[in-house]
Amino acid sequence: MKLFILLLVVMIGSCTSMNKDNKYAQVLKDHKRSEYEAFGKKYMISTQGRATTEAAKFVFDQGGNIYDAAAAASFAISVERPHSTGLGGGGFMVIYDSKSKKSEAIDFREMAPRMANSKMFVDKMGNQIKDKSLTGALAVGTPGLVAGIVSTHKKYGKLPLATVLKPAINLAQNGLTVYPALSVAMKAESKRLCKYKAAAKIFLKKGCKPYVAGEVLYQKDLAKTLRSIAKNSHDGFYRGYVANQIVKYQKKMGGLIRHADLKYYKVKNREPIEGTYKGYKIVSMPPPSSGGTHIIEILNILEGYDLKSMGAQSAKAIHLTSSAMQIAFADRAEYMGDSDFAKVPVKKLIDKTYAKKLREKISVSRALNSSDFPIAFRDLLYESDDTTHFTIMDGEGNIVTSTQTINGWFGSAMVTPGTGIVMNNEMDDFASHVGGVNLFGAVGGKNNLVEPRKRPLSSMSPSIVFNSKDEPILALGTPSGTRILTCVMQTILNVIEHDMPLWEAVAATRYHHQWSPEEIRVGKPYFDPKVETELRRMGHKIKHKDLGCKIQAIMKKGSTLHGVSDMREEGSSFGI
Ligand code: GLY
Repeated sequence: MKLFILLLVVMIGSCTSMNKDNKYAQVLKDHKRSEYEAFGKKYMISTQGRATTEAAKFVFDQGGNIYDAAAAASFAISVERPHSTGLGGGGFMVIYDSKSKKSEAIDFREMAPRMANSKMFVDKMGNQIKDKSLTGALAVGTPGLVAGIVSTHKKYGKLPLATVLKPAINLAQNGLTVYPALSVAMKAESKRLCKYKAAAKIFLKKGCKPYVAGEVLYQKDLAKTLRSIAKNSHDGFYRGYVANQIVKYQKKMGGLIRHADLKYYKVKNREPIEGTYKGYKIVSMPPPSSGGTHIIEILNILEGYDLKSMGAQSAKAIHLTSSAMQIAFADRAEYMGDSDFAKVPVKKLIDKTYAKKLREKISVSRALNSSDFPIAFRDLLYESDDTTHFTIMDGEGNIVTSTQTINGWFGSAMVTPGTGIVMNNEMDDFASHVGGVNLFGAVGGKNNLVEPRKRPLSSMSPSIVFNSKDEPILALGTPSGTRILTCVMQTILNVIEHDMPLWEAVAATRYHHQWSPEEIRVGKPYFDPKVETELRRMGHKIKHKDLGCKIQAIMKKGSTLHGVSDMREEGSSFGI
């Protein structure tokens, strides 16, 4: 009898976990869970690319540290995800040093060329010229990625730059097997890529046909550029042949980037944004990212509720969380921009008293009305799940977490001839005019208008969470435009408020409200239909559409490192 009861308990237990796995199987692509999840003690790598994770592992095997691994991952992912990121782009990095207990925010975001101006993307009537900031030479900001990676590596890395670049050079030279997400992006962007000879030559087959998954993509010109960086470091990109080619092509195609822009590109080491949530500390990216500020603003608003007792996926918790997101995005449109140029009231936005006032605007049973906010409602334009993220942690708790991008898929669609460099379209992250809308439907204010040498507003949010003993317990980030900050915030909330194990926290249903459009966007696996009915009754519109986030997260529990790469796309975690 006892044996029978024991068997029954085991069966019920495994059924429950099977049901759970079935739910998450909706988001688990063709690969096994073991490819996306890893446990280790010495180090952990979570990236959006298998070859990239391998590159970071190679560097650890050579005796490198996390900064060597981060540089190797940055260059390798530039080759492996040419639609998302690359040497022609920029990014942010948040690092934590376990000895000094200090965090640093490194900004290598693109800068507007010196000849740029606030009218460059509007017609005489002041209306946005849609495609000008998205495709072609004027869409390109001065790239910062190489400067950021090389300078951080020089400061903190152990191995020679040439060693950390090896895996990326091999991948570009010997080719990579096109994987499903890359072929989807190539197909979606084939018309734009076809307009530019150097881009079409690399990323399309004869007749401008996109590659299909399983075929091999070679990027030999890019290998040459990577070799130039291995040899001459920063100057291998910002001076000499590569710089000459960039400037020559910009001039030919009507762009504004000149040698002075490349020469004076500046990496900025910034104070990270810090906030707290129920005893935890959250450290993230300050302006020109809106990410850290709004993650903390949203968490400050939510701190006043007992979301856990409501249940993470209850209508009430979703309503309150969405309302907090909605308010934060109204603030984003109103205030956010590059704080080197504009007065961005970060202190106010992350202040707990301000959050209390905002909380008072939220009814527990009625949706807020976005049209009551000061800037007019606008519809979403075309958008893509661009950008990339990786997180690396070692056994001592040292951390590098970095989001890197060329903005939309294949950026401006232009490749600088002879270099293999896909040029970004980050100029679209500026507001074309007050109230203008970008690729992600984000509405821009005056603080984010184009100015020479200014950095466009971003949502990229590499973040670290510390426990009450000030020990790092979680580091994470994701791609996907404005959804970045809400996906990072939700994953943090899933772990520290809802006590979810990391795999569940990453796999759980994600949702997003960005004030405009006035809807809760929900990705797979969708909410229970009863929950959606309840949300509609409160006045919310629900839109089923994947958010595009691909969280790369690492948790540290005692001496165990637990890495999870989002199972919604290719990605891989590895640790020992
Ligand atoms: N280009 C996307 C972002 O910076 O948020």
